[in-house]
Amino acid sequence: MTVADRFRRYADWVDEKCPLYAELTEAVADDSQLLEIAAEASPNQPEPELLLAAVQSLLLDGREHPLAQFYPTCDRTGSADDPAAQFRDFCLEHESELRSIVATRRCQTNDVGRSAVLLPAFEYVSRLADGDRLSQIEIGTSAGLNLNWDRYRYDFSGVETVGDDDSPVTITAELRGDRRPPLPRAFPTVVHRRGIDLNTPDVTDEADARWLRALVHPNQAGRRQRLEAAIDVARENRPPLVEGDVLEELPAQLSDAPTDTDLVVFSTHVLYQLEAETIAKLRALLSSRSSDQSVHWLSIDPAEDLGDPTYRIVTFRDGDSVESQVAQFESYGNWVEWDGGHGRRYTGRQ
Ligand SMILES: C[S@@+](CC[C@H](N)C(=O)[O-])C[C@H]1O[C@@H](n2cnc3c(N)ncnc32)[C@H](O)[C@@H]1O
Repeated sequence: MTVADRFRRYADWVDEKCPLYAELTEAVADDSQLLEIAAEASPNQPEPELLLAAVQSLLLDGREHPLAQFYPTCDRTGSADDPAAQFRDFCLEHESELRSIVATRRCQTNDVGRSAVLLPAFEYVSRLADGDRLSQIEIGTSAGLNLNWDRYRYDFSGVETVGDDDSPVTITAELRGDRRPPLPRAFPTVVHRRGIDLNTPDVTDEADARWLRALVHPNQAGRRQRLEAAIDVARENRPPLVEGDVLEELPAQLSDAPTDTDLVVFSTHVLYQLEAETIAKLRALLSSRSSDQSVHWLSIDPAEDLGDPTYRIVTFRDGDSVESQVAQFESYGNWVEWDGGHGRRYTGRQ
């Protein structure tokens, strides 16, 4: 797939979520100069998201340009028309800065709405678990905001609220379907938590925090406010984060987890950035660790080609594994439809 194809595919995907981004990315797909800037992205990094976030980060940093009028996150005075033409003009005016941002930053959207999708699975695992103490390791944690999942309040369909009533972060999610997901009265006890990422944005650093903001679609005020509140929570409670590649860092992190706990290794929107070979090695690592303690591997991901998402739980015990698809969900946690371990299958020794 060419870079232009990836822009077209992204334009289709984002059409209902952010019409401005659909219009901009459709135009970029036919613009060889802008495609060249986007092609600076590192391997396995999605060029459309990076170029859009790089532009928004410069606007949030105060670059003045008529393009800003189309971004609800910026001062919108003015009367420019044709956002695609303004976007092109902005990109060419700031070409060298944009090339450098696209080449060095990563698509690390850290969306705590995904905690609403994780929460029922954590509860499900804690009910399956041998004891009542969990250790958690998040792969591709970005700034670690979802590791703080038990510091947030959740409102499911306006009928069920769980979590910390005083939290500045409220995550609202619609429950779909006939099955009620397992929701905890009290959160499972997490006695150990770690995050691993190739790059761990520091929420106390203004440029890093701006990059996290820039990754949010400019029309999504609710997501933006929730991110701001989660950044505030993380400034007070920064989970321990380790910078490096998952395959290099995970063995030491697995060894550090207390063995008298059930171990949950989870990732949201990360596996799609990994090679199949890396995922296979990751699986082998988790399987081999399960001779010391049960390991539950949760992964939430958009499927290939941004089609139907996947949400799996694989439980490893003594090298054997059982795998199930547990839920359907919206990418940013706007709704969850619990399948309750539908399609549970024994996948045997790894
Ligand atoms: C789209 S972001 C998702 C962030 C976060 N999990 C969320 O859902 O809010 C994907 C993350 O995976 C990280 N990542 C990609 N490849 C990785 C690797 N080989 N090792 C560790 N982290 C990786 C990226 O740096 C990025 O932060």
